[in-house]
This record gives sequence, structure tokens and C-alpha cells, in this order.
Amino acid sequence: MTATALRTHRCGALREAHVGLEVRLGGWLHRRRDLGGLIFFDLRDRAGIVQVSFGPDWTPAAVLEAAATVGPESVVLVRGVVQPRPEAARNPEMVTGQVEVRATQLEVVGPAVTPPIPVWRTKGEDLPAEELRLLHRQLDLRRPEMERNLALRHRLLQRARGVLTELEFYEIETPMLTRPTPEGARDYLVPSRVHPGQFYALPQSPQIYKQLLMVAGFDRYFQLARCFRDEDLRADRQPEFTQIDLEASFVGPEDVYGFVEAVMVNLWDEAGHEVGRPFHRMAFHDAMEHYGSDKPDLRYELKIEDLGDLFGGRGFRVFDTAVEAGGRIRGMRVPGGAQLSRKALDEIAAVAQRHGIGGLATLKRTGDSLTGPLAKLPDIASEQAGLKDGDLLLVTAGADNVTSAALDAVRLQVIQRLELEPVEQHAFLWIEDFPLFERELESDEWIFAHHPFTAPRPEDLPALLDRQYGDVKAQHYDLVYNGNELGSGSIRITDPEVQLRVLEAMGIPRADAERRFGFLLTALRSGAPPHGGFAVGFDRVVMLLAGADSLRDVIAFPKTTAARALFEDSPSPVDPAELASLGIEIRGQ
Ligand code: AMO
Repeated sequence: MTATALRTHRCGALREAHVGLEVRLGGWLHRRRDLGGLIFFDLRDRAGIVQVSFGPDWTPAAVLEAAATVGPESVVLVRGVVQPRPEAARNPEMVTGQVEVRATQLEVVGPAVTPPIPVWRTKGEDLPAEELRLLHRQLDLRRPEMERNLALRHRLLQRARGVLTELEFYEIETPMLTRPTPEGARDYLVPSRVHPGQFYALPQSPQIYKQLLMVAGFDRYFQLARCFRDEDLRADRQPEFTQIDLEASFVGPEDVYGFVEAVMVNLWDEAGHEVGRPFHRMAFHDAMEHYGSDKPDLRYELKIEDLGDLFGGRGFRVFDTAVEAGGRIRGMRVPGGAQLSRKALDEIAAVAQRHGIGGLATLKRTGDSLTGPLAKLPDIASEQAGLKDGDLLLVTAGADNVTSAALDAVRLQVIQRLELEPVEQHAFLWIEDFPLFERELESDEWIFAHHPFTAPRPEDLPALLDRQYGDVKAQHYDLVYNGNELGSGSIRITDPEVQLRVLEAMGIPRADAERRFGFLLTALRSGAPPHGGFAVGFDRVVMLLAGADSLRDVIAFPKTTAARALFEDSPSPVDPAELASLGIEIRGQ
């Protein structure tokens, strides 16, 4: 029901079917035109715009006079009668373009000062600078794109709730004021006034709570969870974001895949896309080997190959040197790639070099002839290289961790520049069999690849107990969509001994572990069912489904890439007296 005490309809909802009806509208003055005695308002609300006309034949003189002085973006209440527009004045580009409201009453209830940024663009006009838009967010949110994005966000939230409720999940809220994580890194801390010198932390995710809920017996939990991470700034991240967070007991990875796939298929359906199930699956190792990335975009078929047999030991010096140093020769065949110009190839090579490789060698086939630096090698034949007329081979050599990232970048460049046809529109992919630990480059110490509660694969337990940490794979899975990481999850450790061993691998001795993770260990000792779960980055999902370029376009009040809220100017200093009451003193910054 739209009708309220002050209005009968939304402006953007009026159609020919309403002709003859007396309506009361409330809206923002989008545009005013004065045409010698006649005044037209484009009156706007969340549903869109309708034309309101004021004329001497139907509008009392005082109202007509008042209409002439209303400023843009002021809020007005209008009473009038819906009429068909004269034939010549119909506007097929507006959904309300067949009608207008002939006004009999007008009240300015919310006068506006001249807006500092234009609220709507006329076609082709650039948006105001983002800093300005975020500073005047309440005006920026009046843009129809923002209304569409937030309406979609709302529908997706409700749909996720609906699907998970159908699947017998309970929506359970977990605390926002939590215990700081043991390492403390990336926590937003909240001082306690009643316990001076002590702090809560805002949750980075509800991970521990959802595990405690499983121990408690709730068996299927979900939450549209707000998470807070004081991380290094990145364009595709927000310090405060939303996850579709779920956890279930007595499950294996297949069950979790099933739940998450059901959610995703429904969300995509809500946005008008049909998606097939089950999703693709790939081992982490294969993703790195064939796509150079743990989030490959499977819409495109290009694959990285090991070209050691073809180019190893052939006297191509840079390759031979790299192989002698323990590296491999890898590259990709690009059907139709011979059309890439010398300049384009140089630019692609430059992108790859930024990822640390020495260079990108090429072999092009045009007709029966081969060109490019690799063509000079003796005995290279097109068939051997697997090249058809018009194809291109791009090759590099080095350590896998360098060539993978470089070839991933090359692959994306080639896809973009050749405008390759996708083989499918919605390439959902599960990445499985991640390593449980990674070596941190700077310290050469073992760190968790994901989080400390991820269970090792049962078959890798002996390797964990033997401290062969590099051999232990995790029951962890990531969900990737068209090259974007949408979420991650795992089966959790429920054996306290295994949990202690994993923490030990991270250099946390038992006594420390009991102190720092005691409540979790106690919970695991109190009857813990096997359980696992997942978290979907919801903002990212909305961004992709809205076709938006930035997370900021699908969050009502986002932070900038510098983690600032411009409209309210936060973070901000706090009065020293207030700090003192919290037992806090700011030292020189
Ligand atoms: P993870 O840390 O991988 O897992 O987060 C899950 C998903 O959340 C999204 N995400 C973000 N989105 C916007 N801004 C950010 N700063 C940001 N950080 C993460 C990503 C990511 O894939 N507790 C585990 C989940 C689990 O194991 O169940 C967790 O939080 O899309």
C-alpha cells in the first residue's frame, strides 16, 4: 500500500489507467519549466518522475504564483487530477509519459537550498567526482541507478533469507562487540567505559560464534552478517561489509556446496539470470597450473600449458637459464592471436613483466610461415607447436609463482584485446584442495592459508602430525564467478588435539593456545558435531548482479578507498576528556 496520510500514489507509478483520478503526491522538484502562464514540474520520488502542470484554467492563482518560486530539489505535496497529455506532449521515453497531473494544490514542505551537485544526469553527462558524491551522499542516492542498485540489494537479501529458511537454517544474530582476535591485526577496537583499559573488537566475521552455535546443537545457522576489517586499502574491499554467512552440522563439503549453490542460483534468478547446477570444480593446483590464478575466469577457454617438451634444451638462452635455475617453460596457444599487432604484444609483455617475468616470447603462424623470436629455433614446425593458421603462442620461463601470476595477467589481456567470445555467461567454479599452510615470503614461516579453524583432509593428518606442513591440504573451498572470488568456507576442525597441532604449526605453543583460544578448545571438548560452512561476500554479489563498477555503488553509505566516510567525516578525533573517561590517552601520532 503506497497510500499514506499525505499521499495517495507514488509519482513514478501513475499511468493512463489513473486518468480521471484525483491524487495526492509527495516528491522532489526535479525540474521546473515556466512557459508563459503554464508551469511544469517534473516531480520525482523513488518510483520515478511524473509531470505536474499548473495552469490558469485549473490551478488557483495563488497556487500558480507559489509554483513559480519553488527551488529545485525542494519537497512538495501536490493535489491534482490525472489527465492524458495532449497528443503532441506525450513522451514515450517516460513510463509516466502518457499522463500529467493538473495541480490544484501545492505545499512546499521541505524547501531545499541549491544542491551542490547535480542530482540527475541528463543523457551523456558525466557523474560529479566520486569524492563529491560521497560527501553529499543523500543527494547522490537520489540518482535512479542508486535506487535500482539498493532495490536489487533488498530483493537479494530477502531471497537469500527465503532460500536458507526453506533449507531449515535459523537466522541467528551474533555479537558486534566481541573479544579481540589473538593476533589483533585488522581489528577495529572499541574501548569499554565501564572497564577502563579493556576493549571489545568489532567482528571480522562471525566465524567462532557460528562454530559455537554448531557445538550448541543449532545444526543450521545463517546470518546476513556485518564484518569489519581494518585492512590495507584495496579498491575492491570495504572496511565494513556484508556476508551471507552459514554453517551446518553433520555435513561434508558436498552438502555445503549444495546449500551455497541453492543460494547463488536463487540470487541470480532474482536478477533475471538462469544458472545451471552443479557448478564447475577444480583443484587449486590445477587452477594455478592452467590459469595461473586461484580465481580463473572460466568463461574463456584459453589455458596455460607446460611447454618444456617443445622449447626446453633448444638453445633458447633465457629459457635454458630459467630451467637450469629450477623454473619451467610455460605459455598459451591463442587461437586467432596472430592478429594482435606488434604494439599490442609489446603492451601485453609489459603487463606480464610487471609481474616479474623477464619477457614474453612469441611464435605466430600466418599461412604456412612462422614468425616471432621463437621461429628462429631450428626444427620448430607449426604442427609440433600445435598452431593453426592465424594462431599465436606466447611463452615465458621462470619459477611457477612468478610465471603463474604473469600468465594470468597475459590471459586476461588477450581475452580483452581479442574480445574473445565467452563459452558461457555464468561460470561458477568451486576451487578445492587448497594447501592448509603457506610459507610467508618475508619470514619464511608457516601461516594459515585461510583461518586456523579449517580442517586438514583426513588423509593428510599423518603429514600434519609429522610436521610435513607443506604436504597438508585443507578441506577448504572457494567459490569463483567469472574470475571473481565470491566466497570461501571449509569443514572445521572438531578434534581439540588437531586444533592444537595446527596452532603449533603456526608457532603457537600449547600453553599459549590454551590461553588464547581456550574458549574454542573448551567448546570442542564439550561435544562438538562435525561441521562446516561458508561465507559469500554479499556486496560483491550485488555489485556483479547490478552491473556496477564499484562496491561503493551498492552500499548506501560506503567508505572511500581511504576508509573514510566523507559525508559524516569519520573517522574523527575524540575529545580528550572523553578519552580520559575511557582511560585512553593519545600519544604523538
Ligand atoms: P573470508 O575472509 O574469505 O571468509 O570472507 C568471505 C568473503 O567475504 C568477502 N570479503 C569482502 N568483501 C568486501 N570487503 C572486504 N573487505 C571483504 N573481505 C572479505 C569476499 C570473501 O570471499 N569466516 C570465513 C568464512 C568461512 O570460513 O565460513 C570468512 O570470513 O567475497
